[in-house]
Amino acid sequence: MTKFLVTSGLPYANGDLHIGHVAGAYLPADIFVRFQKLKGNDIIYICGTDEHGAPISIKAESEKVSPQEIVKRYHESIKQAFDDVGIEFDNFSGTSREEHHRISQDFFSNLLEAGFINKKTTPQFYDEEHKRFLPDRYVEGICPHCGEDEARGDQCDSCGKLIEAIQLKSPKSKISGNTPIIKDTTHWFLNLPKLENELQEWLKTKTYWKENVHNFIMSWLNEGLIERAITRDINWGIKVPLKNTDGKVLYVWFDAPIGYLSSTVEWAKLQGKPDKWKDYWLDENCKLIHFVGKDNIPFHTIIWPAMLMKQKENYILPHDVPANEYLSINGKKISTSKNYAIWVKDFVKYFDGEYLRYVLAANAPEKKDSDFSWEDFQNKINTDLANILGNMANRVFAFSKKYFDGVILKPIKFSEISKKVFEKSDILFEDIEKDYSEYKVRKATRDIIEIARIGNKYFDETQPWKTVKLDKAKANETLFVCAELLRKISIVFSPIIPKSMNKLREILKLTKEIDWDSLQTKICEYNIGEVKPLFPKIQDDEIKYQNELLNKIENENVELEHKDEIEFDDFMKMELRIAEVIKAESIKKSKKLLKVVLKIGNETRQVIAGISQFYKPEDLIGKKVVALFNLKPRKVMGIESQAMILSAEENGKLSVLIPDRSVSTGSEIR
Ligand code: 2FM
Ligand code: ZN
Repeated sequence: MTKFLVTSGLPYANGDLHIGHVAGAYLPADIFVRFQKLKGNDIIYICGTDEHGAPISIKAESEKVSPQEIVKRYHESIKQAFDDVGIEFDNFSGTSREEHHRISQDFFSNLLEAGFINKKTTPQFYDEEHKRFLPDRYVEGICPHCGEDEARGDQCDSCGKLIEAIQLKSPKSKISGNTPIIKDTTHWFLNLPKLENELQEWLKTKTYWKENVHNFIMSWLNEGLIERAITRDINWGIKVPLKNTDGKVLYVWFDAPIGYLSSTVEWAKLQGKPDKWKDYWLDENCKLIHFVGKDNIPFHTIIWPAMLMKQKENYILPHDVPANEYLSINGKKISTSKNYAIWVKDFVKYFDGEYLRYVLAANAPEKKDSDFSWEDFQNKINTDLANILGNMANRVFAFSKKYFDGVILKPIKFSEISKKVFEKSDILFEDIEKDYSEYKVRKATRDIIEIARIGNKYFDETQPWKTVKLDKAKANETLFVCAELLRKISIVFSPIIPKSMNKLREILKLTKEIDWDSLQTKICEYNIGEVKPLFPKIQDDEIKYQNELLNKIENENVELEHKDEIEFDDFMKMELRIAEVIKAESIKKSKKLLKVVLKIGNETRQVIAGISQFYKPEDLIGKKVVALFNLKPRKVMGIESQAMILSAEENGKLSVLIPDRSVSTGSEIR
């Protein structure tokens, strides 16, 4: 039996959880933990919210509420979101709890005592208007490494590199918008150079780490380690455990990973076994695995191990850091500040959380960034789950009910074709075990769906609808083989979609309790119970609606490209008037154009308008519209157009402008 301690990066308690978070650090860990539990290994899954630092205090200041209020609100909402998608922690704590403060202060004191923390006076950005220093997210500017703007004072989101705030180019205070001045202040620094050799030696043993993680570390080490400030001048955080520190607090990234330990300590207490955390943190045979997003790599592979190495207790060091890349939506980066995201709490209003689990697993950003789109979501659910797996299950259930009263018996002998199916699928079941243990969730989903595909093909080839009339035993054999595949799928698919696999097991009248070894259980008879739909399909209009919601957000965020200023007189040169559509017809040979006749006062004008994809002629007749009348007449497809109907364009779709009250034709627009 192997012992594991699994963690996922503690989410900041300053906002809700979106699908990118789930895909990066939580779902892969939850799947791994569920798999290891099936294997009978001793494993606990620990997390909590990251409740300190600039992310929280900025949010609190912007809402004019206390940081505690922000923390409470988002701790609850994040926890709910995890529940909604079935991410099951053994403990979910928070870093503003007392025990965490105590343990973090001990970490600092131990490092100081061991000679790995130095006190130095350094220049920092300072906002003169607000009379305060500007650490981390309080200042933004151009990244000194990659040149992207909107880099923060501690890290650049674009290249992932850590930044010393003072290196930012064109810095701007996030509080006042002013350019900060530079002022000296005193801070405590973690002496990473002094630990460099020890870290290098340790990292050399990590040959099995993921390539993306390995590359990141190498580039970091090649640049040489520098001392990193681990205290800050803000008033929300853990007090530096020394006298006369001017109220300085520990840097959020110093205390956050300690949250893994303090949450385990809390877990042990809640179990009524206060020393139980030691069974994990102090057992050198326990594998500590940190699941994180890629921006968290340097903290988990270098800084946090360095902190652990010089404690009084002999804590284990990370065994692995299987960091994932990012998930984008429609090819665009998720942005919490621009609200460009799909929030878990919104997702579950419309769809089952299991569907999110499946699609994010099938599309996990394991080696490179991956993309989510609603079309792909619909396609994956409707094809893989409904048409392939769901269909296979339904065929077996319906057929066995119709011809066998739902009772399927194990045949005395299997035919060659059935044996082949078992052989092929057994190879895949073994692959799946390997996939899970190597965090290859994408491949696991592919292998599972492949088994269902094999099952469908076998069903087609053995044609039970024919054999049932000639040789009932043959039809029974087909059903038995398929039921076996379904039963095994219900085990191996359960780390990804546990609820649905439970449902499947209920229909097959199998026990709820499962383990990986039960793949080998010998079954003599299946008795199909009440059949419930497993994977309802997602309809086109549901996807259309979700896309509309997303478009709305995108449009709210569009950076408008403004035209050159004009004079009022320029505007007044345009003769814009209300007109009534008295005739409208499509133009043969044109998909886009409509011929419209407008009435204004006692005049009529003919207009060729490119709106036939969006309006039928009869939709327009009788409507009052806005038109530009002094535009020079021009010919469109050989027909003269004598005015222009105004419409608003959104993603290529035109909506004709219509006045919101009844006005006479000819009225001028101003
Ligand atoms: O990037 C983040 O969202 C951080 N709150 C992750 C912290 S991970 C850990 F060290 F706690
Ligand atoms: Zn950068």
